[in-house]
Parts: sequence; structure tokens; C-alpha cells
Amino acid sequence: MPFLPLRHTLGTGLLGLALCAPSLAMAQSAILEGERFHPETGEQGMVATSHFLASQVAHEVLAEGGNAVDAAVTAGFALAVTQPRSGNIGGGGFMLISDERSGEVTAIDYRETAPAAATETMFQDEEGNAVSEWSRFTHRAAGVPGTVAGLARALEEYGTLSLSAALAPAIRLADEGFVVPQRFVDGVADAGERLTQWDASQAMFYKEDGSAYRVGDTFRQPDLAATLRRIAEQGAREFYEGETAELIVAEMQRHDGLITREDLAGYQPEIREPSHGNYRGYDVYAMSPPSSGGAHIVEILNVLEGYDIAEMGFGAADTMHLMAEAMKRAYADRAEYLGDTDFVEVPLDGLTSKAYADELRSQIAIDRATPSDEISAGDPAPYESNETTHFSIADGDGLAVSNTYTINFSYGSGIAVEGAGFLLNNEMDDFSAKPGVPNAYGLIGGEANKIEPGKRMLSSMTPTIVKRDGENFLITGSPGGSRIITTTLQVLMNVIDHDMNIQSAVSAPRLHHQWLPDELRVEAGFSPDTLSLLEARGHTISQQSAMGAAQSIVIEDGRFFGGADPRRSTSSAMGL
Ligand code: DON
Repeated sequence: MPFLPLRHTLGTGLLGLALCAPSLAMAQSAILEGERFHPETGEQGMVATSHFLASQVAHEVLAEGGNAVDAAVTAGFALAVTQPRSGNIGGGGFMLISDERSGEVTAIDYRETAPAAATETMFQDEEGNAVSEWSRFTHRAAGVPGTVAGLARALEEYGTLSLSAALAPAIRLADEGFVVPQRFVDGVADAGERLTQWDASQAMFYKEDGSAYRVGDTFRQPDLAATLRRIAEQGAREFYEGETAELIVAEMQRHDGLITREDLAGYQPEIREPSHGNYRGYDVYAMSPPSSGGAHIVEILNVLEGYDIAEMGFGAADTMHLMAEAMKRAYADRAEYLGDTDFVEVPLDGLTSKAYADELRSQIAIDRATPSDEISAGDPAPYESNETTHFSIADGDGLAVSNTYTINFSYGSGIAVEGAGFLLNNEMDDFSAKPGVPNAYGLIGGEANKIEPGKRMLSSMTPTIVKRDGENFLITGSPGGSRIITTTLQVLMNVIDHDMNIQSAVSAPRLHHQWLPDELRVEAGFSPDTLSLLEARGHTISQQSAMGAAQSIVIEDGRFFGGADPRRSTSSAMGL
């Protein structure tokens, strides 16, 4: 029997309408009456993921007495099956774990690493021009995958389930298949050109007669089931040293890729201390390097703390202007300073200090946008629409998990490992192929993010946990490439500054500025009058498609509130 969803709670849509929240600080539970957006509620825990089947299996783990990390690892493997465009075992990511009982917040860094044979100029042609095709759509685009080692490490440190138990639902979903929703069909159609170039990808994502799956068809992944089963039977090292490693290396050797047996055998996740800041009395923990997310979310919040954002109000021109001004300064710093701290010095204490924020704030004028070229120089670049996935999980015993992982683009490089049933990431594109040349998200990187063997490429993924009075309060994060940091920031501000319940906070329209290109990107839903006011201050407004998918949780007074992001039709929050 293929899997069918038991329950599918999608955050009530109406994306794009400006929200009006009460101005008094009230408990999340007290503001539900009379609100237009309603979170999922729970008394003992909550899961929020971007796919209802992953939410369902994670929910079952919690219901059977597993903890939040057990549920997160189970969801991570299930998403690799049900949402293969971004859920993965061929990529990498970050998991933040907050244990209220010990007071510790830990980060597991399972970001991909550059293979030993990688070189600083490997994506430049003979004239020294960066060739994006090479860093995105070839076997050389793949970093050494970290997901299997990272999820297994989380389970070892914090879980109660065995690895094989956490893998069981994923194996079942891959073996028995699941009924494909519209989003799956659309995603494969969008990436069709890339996927059909490679026999293994074609065989994985299309039917035997070569036709595409349609809504209602059952999608099975026997090769992936076999790979997951080998990992379940032999442990995580199987992926790095066993038959799966052999399949990856054979794939690399057939197509001029760089990843070797030694690269795989040498891969290790790292335990990191998260970036930490304080915003209006709340403790904010978010991913530290090799992600830029934590440093810059704290930097932006420090700048904004100096303004009465609550009084100005959600969607007001003043609020949006100040957010944009703070964002551009942080992204200019990102381009200059951020990289893997195992390889380069990053001035993290300075970036996240209140004094530095005071200095930045003093450069901001309320009535005029600072042009980006007065902040620093660089080249504008277009955005691309892509996909990563974030999930948040909390249990009733004080454990909370915020996890973002990715293969970079939707369907990564589009290249599946023959015989192993999973896609390779194209994360190498997150390095700077050449200083000053933007990556796929228009992000500029410098020396700090140049390619070096064994190094982790700079990320924007920002799994975040906010604590209040020592207790887990808000668990959030998002996909969205460069927009991840600003999406996560806005969920946090919507809850803390604008007193929105978590479903409203997640659904509200978003804005984004990343310094270069010098434009203020907005979703539909802001008032045209407000946008005119912003233009009058010198902002170039660009209204584009939706940003991010911030599956989030708020815990208050022992109750759990889940916000499923309506920007994904398969998003699902489930409380228990
Ligand atoms: O690590 C990063 O920042 C990117 N590789 C994430 C890519 C992403 O979020 C794609 N988008 N939705």
C-alpha cells in the first residue's frame, strides 16, 4: 500500500495580505481569537516540516515516546525520500539542538566539504573567467556529502532510537512509494532538462516508458531504499566506506568528478557553538560559520534594536526602510569577512557586538536609502529560484531541534549516483569561484570563501532557536538561498516586535535586501502607498515571487504552536 497522508495541516493561505497584529505584548495563546491565521496547536510537542509525510512520521516518533532529535532524524531521512528536490542524503546542512534541561544549545555542522583535489581556480577557464556551468551542473559541483554522518551524530548524542529505527519509515516510503502531489510533478517538470541529461536521474524521476509521473501516481525508489537499508544495517560509515561509497566514487570516475574514497572516509561532522545574541531580552541562537546566518541575523537585530519597531508597526515604510538599511550593511560584511572558520579568521565578536551595531546605526538616515555603492562596491546579479528545506521539532521534555539541509539547487546538480538512487549536491557553487563574482544567489564572496581542499563552503542556512527566560520559545529557519537570513529574521521580528501568532508570523509578506543587487525585493501584499514612500527615500523596489518556507514553532506556557509556511503546498505542522 502506498503511503497516504493521515492528516495534512497546511497553514491557511491568503499569502500576500498585509497583517495587522495587536500592539500589546500578549501570549501566543491569548491572541488566537479573532486572528485570521491560526497555528496548529499541541500540548506535548510539535513538528513542522515542508512535507506532510515527513511531518507524519516525525509525529509518530514523538507519539511513541521518542524525543525531538529522534523525530528530527526520522524526518530528515523521510524528506530525502518524499521531497528529493531538497531533502537529501547527497547534500549537507546544519542542526541546532536546544536542551532546556542542561541549558545548552549545540550546533551540528554537517556541511559538505571540498574534495582534496579541489583548487581555488577549478571553476575558472583559461582566461580566468568563472564558469558557472562547471560549479553547478557537473560532477565537480559536488562537495563531500555530510547528511548521513550529521543525522547519525545527532542521534548518537541526543537520540534514544537506533539508526535503523530512525531510517525505517524512510525505507518504507522508498520501497512502497507514495502518491505524488502536484508540487512533485511541477518540480520534476521544472528541472526536467537537467534530470533527463543523466541516465540515472532519468531512471529515478521518470517512469520506465520515459513519461513523467502524474498527480495520483505512486512513486517508488528501489535503489534509494537499498541504500538506506545498507546504512540501517551497517551504520552511517557504510555511506562513507561501504558499497554506497564505492557507487559514489565510480560515478565520479566515470564523469571526471573529484570525490575519492579518501574524501568520503575522511568526512566528519563538527560540533559548533552557535552564534548568540540578545534581542529585546530574548536569547537568539543561530548557526555559526560555515554559515553566515547566525552572525548576520544577530548583526541586523542589534541594529534594529535601537529603533521602536513595534511602535512603527508591521509593513510601515519606516520599519521596512530601517530593515533594508540594516540588511544591506550586514550583507556587505558577509561578502568581505565570512568563510569557514577552520580555515580563515572571521571577526565574529565584532560583527555581533552591540557597539558595532551602534556604529552601523549611526550611518543610517531615516529619510534616505544609502545607495549600495556607498556601502561598498560590487556587481549586481540575478536571483534564481531554488530549494532547500527547513524543519522545526519540539518535544514535551525541553528538547527542540531546528534543522536546515540542502543539495543547493532544487534537485542539486541534477545528477543521481547510478545504482544508489540519490542526487548529488552542487554546493561547490557556494564557494566564490573567483573573488567578486556572485554565486547563484547573487552573493559576492571574497578571499575568505575561496575554494580550499577540505574546506566548507559558506552558507546562508540559519536554523535558529530563540529562548526566553531560559526556556525554548521560538524554533525557526528557512530555505531561500540568500533570502534565508532575512526570512528567518522576519519570522523572529513578527513574533517579538509585532506580537503575531506563529502562523501569522510565517504567513506575513516578506522583504529582502542583500546589498547587491541594490534593490529592495518585496513579496506581494505590501501596500502600494508604502512602496511609493520607500521609493521616495531612494529604494528601488522589485516585486518578485515568494521567499522562503519557514516551518516554525512557538512554545509558550507549556503549549506548542506550529506555523506551516503557506508558500509550500505540502507544508505541514502537526501537534500532539
Ligand atoms: O547553503 C546555502 O546557503 C545555499 N546552498 C542554500 C540553497 C537554498 O536555500 C536554495 N533555496 N531555496
